[in-house]
Amino acid sequence: MSESNMKGKTLVISGATRGIGKAILYKFAQNGVNVAFTYNKNEEEAQKIAQDVESRFGVKARYYPLNVLEPEQYIELFGKIDQDFDRVDFFVSNAIIYGRSVVGGFAPFMRLKPKGLNNIYTATVLAFVVGAQEAAKRMKEVGGGAIVSLSSTGNLVYMPNYAGHGNSKNAVETMVKYAAAELGEFGIRVNAVSGGPIDTDALRAFPDYDEVKAKVEEQSPLKRMGLPEDLAGAAYFLCDSTQSAWITGQTIVIDGGTTFQ
Ligand SMILES: NC(=O)c1ccc[n+]([C@@H]2O[C@H](COP(=O)([O-])OP(=O)(O)OC[C@H]3O[C@@H](n4cnc5c(N)ncnc54)[C@H](OP(=O)(O)O)[C@@H]3O)[C@@H](O)[C@H]2O)c1
Repeated sequence: MSESNMKGKTLVISGATRGIGKAILYKFAQNGVNVAFTYNKNEEEAQKIAQDVESRFGVKARYYPLNVLEPEQYIELFGKIDQDFDRVDFFVSNAIIYGRSVVGGFAPFMRLKPKGLNNIYTATVLAFVVGAQEAAKRMKEVGGGAIVSLSSTGNLVYMPNYAGHGNSKNAVETMVKYAAAELGEFGIRVNAVSGGPIDTDALRAFPDYDEVKAKVEEQSPLKRMGLPEDLAGAAYFLCDSTQSAWITGQTIVIDGGTTFQ
């Protein structure tokens, strides 16, 4: 197998101040990939992460504000990235909304409301579309690249209150397949990484977090919760063309074996 050629390439990733996004950013930076990443509220944390990876791994790191509820912000964002980086090779659509914007979207079926559901759709699917379009324009210029969307197994198994997210994750997985079908001719591969419950702030915000955690620990043949690092390796693998050159339009499920229980 040929040697990895990730060094000196550039990853663009949304929502990398915490949880899964942060773990993915570190995985790429440790392997010599420059990182352009977004934050929403935690600018201070973004600054710390950029300084840390630059000093520890000798890569270039820059951070930018982004609100995925306004997907067209990606157009201006990529304009800024063009000024700071000479190429874009990888794009990971990871950011997720929570709190007030998901009211009516994160709820039992009978309490679902169009506005909350639309917000989740916007943040999950429309943000993926606009971000991936902008990324693909840059990837075409360097002869190819890879795009990854985060997804979750809430579209495969029932999770209380999760209808809005589960539906939008289903939709983004379908969008991934369409993007893969049309971008392959430019050497761009598009895939999804779908996680079972992972111990992050997003999950800790669930009202039934303790029950979800206990259930996963019991159901998983591996007898533990998922950690952000458990998804980072798959995202990296899907971007490294020496490892995954013929994988496109797929979803890799990483669930600790829970969805078959
Ligand atoms: N946790 C799970 O169980 C699980 C399982 C499978 C898949 N996933 C998926 O993995 C991805 C990351 O989830 P996570 O659990 O790591 O989340 P998390 O720890 O809560 O982190 C969320 C990230 O999104 C950013 N963000 C929040 N609101 C935003 C907005 N309006 N616009 C742009 N960025 C915003 C946050 O930035 P600030 O810190 O600056 O606010 C933060 O970087 C999501 O797509 C999620 O659906 C999660």
